[in-house]
Amino acid sequence: MTKTFIIFIVSALLLLQVQAVPRMRREAGEVAVEKKPASTHTARSNEKLKFRPRQVLMTTTLADLVGLAKYVTEHGRPLFNKTLAQLEAVPDKCAGLKANITRISEYLKTNKPSGQSDAAEDMLALFESMITLTSILQDANEMPPELEQTKTVQQAFIDNGSDKFEDDLMAELKVVSGKFERAIEHYLSILTEEQKKDETKLIDWYTRFTNEKDDEKKAEFYSNFFDTFNP
Ligand SMILES: *[C@@H]1O[C@H](CO)[C@@H](O)[C@H](O)[C@H]1NC(C)=O
Ligand SMILES: *[C@@H]1O[C@H](CO)[C@@H](O)[C@H](O)[C@H]1NC(C)=O
Ligand SMILES: *[C@@H]1O[C@H](CO)[C@@H](O)[C@H](O)[C@H]1NC(C)=O
Repeated sequence: MTKTFIIFIVSALLLLQVQAVPRMRREAGEVAVEKKPASTHTARSNEKLKFRPRQVLMTTTLADLVGLAKYVTEHGRPLFNKTLAQLEAVPDKCAGLKANITRISEYLKTNKPSGQSDAAEDMLALFESMITLTSILQDANEMPPELEQTKTVQQAFIDNGSDKFEDDLMAELKVVSGKFERAIEHYLSILTEEQKKDETKLIDWYTRFTNEKDDEKKAEFYSNFFDTFNP
């Protein structure tokens, strides 16, 4: 149950930040173009060097996150599909159950996994799909026990593999966040002392992130990456 919650928080926070990414990308791109003519000067090219690994770090991290969002939706859809089939087969559905069924079925209808590219809109759609999926799952986990349909809905998710889905997702999150940790470590290792002064925010965040042992808190930290990264 807390697993879904972690994933839900991460998705929500990431969505907020990913919305800011096209702007960050644009700003980063403009900086790169401006600096080109001055690249013969050593000081300037140092600045550029500093900048490029930074951009690489951001884009690879983003690519990993998109991978995570794809994983969530790709594996979540079959789970939802099966659960939906089981719920639809229930005889004499109460109004609450019917409403739950509609929500799941709407999700499957409106979040078709087609046409996902690196375009900003597709990326946002993917993250939105991830957050809707995880919030439905989170709601299913937290349904009030006194509702007539609660057991039916929760059992349908469990019967069709929600536990495994959550476990796999946590494992996937660990893989992605491990890659991310190594990528930042690498980035920080190539900075000069001078450049490090410009990255105190990131360094401070990274130190706290690596020292954090609690998975839940770590996930929250993780999802703040783009905030920290924005100077
Ligand atoms: C969803 O389930 C139906 C049967 O209930 C099946 O025909 C369909 O292929 C499934 N779709 C996906 C995307 O798994
Ligand atoms: C969902 O789970 C139930 C119980 O394990 C199973 O009978 C049913 O076949 C599953 N649904 C699908 C579409 O696999
Ligand atoms: C199902 O509906 C109830 C209200 O009847 C709501 O509290 C619950 O969050 C819904 N569950 C899902 C998975 O949407």
